[in-house]
Amino acid sequence: MKRRLAIVIALLAVALAAVLAVATSCCNSLAVASPDGSLRLEVLKQQGRIGYRVLRNGRPLLDFSTLGFRLQGAPDLCDGLEIGAVTRSSHDEQWETVWGEQRTIRNHYNEMKVSVCETKTPGRRFDVVFRLFDDGYGFRCEFPEQPEMGEVVIMDELTEFRFPRDHMAWWMPAREPYYESLARHTPISQMDTVNTPLTLECADGSYLALHEANLTDYAKMNLCPTDSTTLRCCLTPWSTGVKVYAQTPFRTPWRTVIVGDTPGDLATSRLMLNLNEPCRIEDTSWIRPAKYIGIWWSMHLFQETWAQGPHHGATTENAKRYIDFAAENGIQGVLVEGWNVGWDGEWTKHPKRFRFTEPYPDFDIEAVARYAAERGVELIGHHETGADTKNYEAQMEEAFALCRRLGINYVKTGYVNVLMDGKELHGSQYGVRHYRRVIETAARYGIMIDNHEPVMPTGLERTWPNLMTQEAVRGQEYNAWSPDGGNPPEHTTVLPFLRGLAGPMDYTFGTFDFSNPVSPFARVQSTVVRELAQYVVLYSPLQMASDLPENYRGHKAFDFIREVPTDWEQTLVPQAVIGDYALFVRQARGSQEWYLGAVTDEQARETDLALDFLTPGTRYTAQIYADAPDADWKSNPCAMHYEEHTVTAADTLHIRMAPGGGCAVRFAVAK
Ligand code: NOJ
Repeated sequence: MKRRLAIVIALLAVALAAVLAVATSCCNSLAVASPDGSLRLEVLKQQGRIGYRVLRNGRPLLDFSTLGFRLQGAPDLCDGLEIGAVTRSSHDEQWETVWGEQRTIRNHYNEMKVSVCETKTPGRRFDVVFRLFDDGYGFRCEFPEQPEMGEVVIMDELTEFRFPRDHMAWWMPAREPYYESLARHTPISQMDTVNTPLTLECADGSYLALHEANLTDYAKMNLCPTDSTTLRCCLTPWSTGVKVYAQTPFRTPWRTVIVGDTPGDLATSRLMLNLNEPCRIEDTSWIRPAKYIGIWWSMHLFQETWAQGPHHGATTENAKRYIDFAAENGIQGVLVEGWNVGWDGEWTKHPKRFRFTEPYPDFDIEAVARYAAERGVELIGHHETGADTKNYEAQMEEAFALCRRLGINYVKTGYVNVLMDGKELHGSQYGVRHYRRVIETAARYGIMIDNHEPVMPTGLERTWPNLMTQEAVRGQEYNAWSPDGGNPPEHTTVLPFLRGLAGPMDYTFGTFDFSNPVSPFARVQSTVVRELAQYVVLYSPLQMASDLPENYRGHKAFDFIREVPTDWEQTLVPQAVIGDYALFVRQARGSQEWYLGAVTDEQARETDLALDFLTPGTRYTAQIYADAPDADWKSNPCAMHYEEHTVTAADTLHIRMAPGGGCAVRFAVAK
């Protein structure tokens, strides 16, 4: 028996050796490493197919993953390929963000550009550019102008991501509209087609996040599993089924993979921004992060209406009331929704009725704008398009010109309707082109954009910092009316490590009153303290305090909202377990002040945090907003305990969070 086994093993070993010999003999390998050497990417050719694999600290991170394109009216571009010239370069610079989670960002990478050519006619060519950073890599295909390829109709991008194991994944299904999803947590083998960012918890304890950077005139990338360890790029189509109409020269967006040892490594990576182009706006002095309140939550609670009628929210008087509250509390902006013609009746069915220069008769826009200016408050405009991009584009210049004349420097845009113009998906090349047109036009008029129902962000705010924030998230509004009851506490412990990796989120938290008489089945599944903590945990340069002003008046917790900045010097994530809890600390930009935000899921949690991020030798007053001992998101969400302590960088803070709660701390330099 034993002898037979030994023979079988010997035969298997011979077979394996033969397979390996064949594999190596038909592979040409070219490699590039990250600046610290921890990542090594090898480009390989196997049976006429071009691909790459990646090692991290000598261990496989990605197995041989192929590249290619399926085209219309031309042979596919995926086999019969040969590797040609290879050029290498390195880059190391620091650049300053106009606003963000971190003031100064280091862009440090090694690049390898590999020319790929068809061996047979027509002999088409493209280059693959790989950039290796210490915290991940990006690559994209560049198609130079060439007689063999002019107009190109891409039916599929065949980019693959092949992992050595069936890792656990945090994912958002691509089929749910507007990326307004609760995350799922399953092995890759049980995933649907998913949006990116996609976050993987690898078997060895490390973390990976897949996404894209600089989505320009192309289709959004989704990922679909082709087997239990392989994902393939699956571009969002036009209604024609085509994925991308292009003309050489053109290039794909960057496909990005961030890698780290902790969830915090993903959240503090700036790889996506580094792979976007530098700022194109010369004078950025008019671009200002802000906090805002708005005529908004009352509509989602069905207490007021967007449409005209006895409960119309956007009246001159109501707007002035909000402006007064903002002025008295140092809140920079007031959003007004439902101010313009188009909301009456079933507005989603008649988006062409929206007029972006015509206020309703009970909203005196000139008077409101004047009043806001007198009180030093920014009026935030609202352009709900119902996803009728044609109607919007026809009015856009005039609408932005009106905003400029009235001093409305911020505009929230909206695209409620799954199909744009009844036809095209938001993430299609059609949608991508439209959103970019809006950002660039707004920049010309000196207007900052908060884009709701966007295409998933990819870091364009580096190039166009007037693109302040976007939705693409299942935000606070679901807690007002969602038939499933709202967003469970777990949701915001996942977001910073999934959707948040794509950039700022306009989640619009800040609830102090948890009652919901009209839709009692839904509620904000949080505590007052957790609401505060989310201003630190979930980043946006525009942050809304979304509750009604009367719920804020005289509330101690509102001090935190008044004080918390929306622009940071640096960000650290000392502790996090995705789906359980997350703890962020951020230093206010241009200041010694620090803020802490911690959120937990349904479980109460206690933890100790070393305050070694504070400036050594400086004494701070820790203003601690803690869940009271009997606080609970379900039964007692408002119970808060406030206390102050003098602390230094040598101290440790004990943090206690109620079920569904959190903790928020301001570290002010002690006088
Ligand atoms: C959905 C947006 O997310 C929400 O903020 C807005 O109030 C409504 N659309 C109406 O535009």
